Amino acid sequence: MKINLNPEADSQIKNIAAKIIVALDVPSAAEAMILCDRLPQVDFWKVGLELFIADGSTVLRELKARHKKIFLDLKLHDIPNTVASACRVATKYGADFLTIHASGGKAMMQAAQSEVEGSSTQLLAISLLTSISASELASDLKVTLDVPEYVAQMVSLAQSSGLTGAVCSPHEVAKLRSLLNDDFCFVTPGVRPTWSAVGDQIRVMTPKQAIAAGANYLVIGRPITAAADPVAAWEQICQDCL
Ligand code: C5P
Repeated sequence: MKINLNPEADSQIKNIAAKIIVALDVPSAAEAMILCDRLPQVDFWKVGLELFIADGSTVLRELKARHKKIFLDLKLHDIPNTVASACRVATKYGADFLTIHASGGKAMMQAAQSEVEGSSTQLLAISLLTSISASELASDLKVTLDVPEYVAQMVSLAQSSGLTGAVCSPHEVAKLRSLLNDDFCFVTPGVRPTWSAVGDQIRVMTPKQAIAAGANYLVIGRPITAAADPVAAWEQICQDCL
């Protein structure tokens, strides 16, 4: 990162940098570690299903060997005993965040939470996949709540089950924040700097807007990883948030 002669701005940039989780959306450990080593400034990486199924244990070990934080985005959803067992294994890998579906129910979330207590792994709830439309929720899944009500219900259930936080759209954060304790953690994908392509994301916010809305962490992928100069993109995003 460029040297900033203003110590206050420098410390603000460090605070912002610590809130950005970069998505390692690549299909192999080799590609993941090339990206990771190209961006030594990034401390927090998200490992999703594709990379985990391809090369999970190698990637997690390599990230830990580089003293990186890991957001293990596996969106677990199964019977309580099975999810709890998977969470126990994730603690051994030293994952910092791990996602489970709130729709798995309170017993599943509580069983999962009891397995991570005392470890460095914190559980985040998936409330509703953003790929599910309002009409799908009502017509196919026969849910009578509308999307914002359903998301609020899932996030409240996650909090009462003892989870650390939830993943949600930056557009939902402000309202959800007002319903939940201040220490509940919100992680938001769907973030785009003004200068970056929106791609397949539909309702985006800039990093600065998402933090102002109450997001504790931002997940950003392609604006950094697909940039011609990923280091410059990372630095620009940090600067944009000041
Ligand atoms: O490249 P981009 O910034 O869109 O990457 C966002 C990351 O966050 C991807 O790994 C994507 O799978 C994930 N994500 C998302 N929207 C959600 C949940 C996860 O974009 N609702």
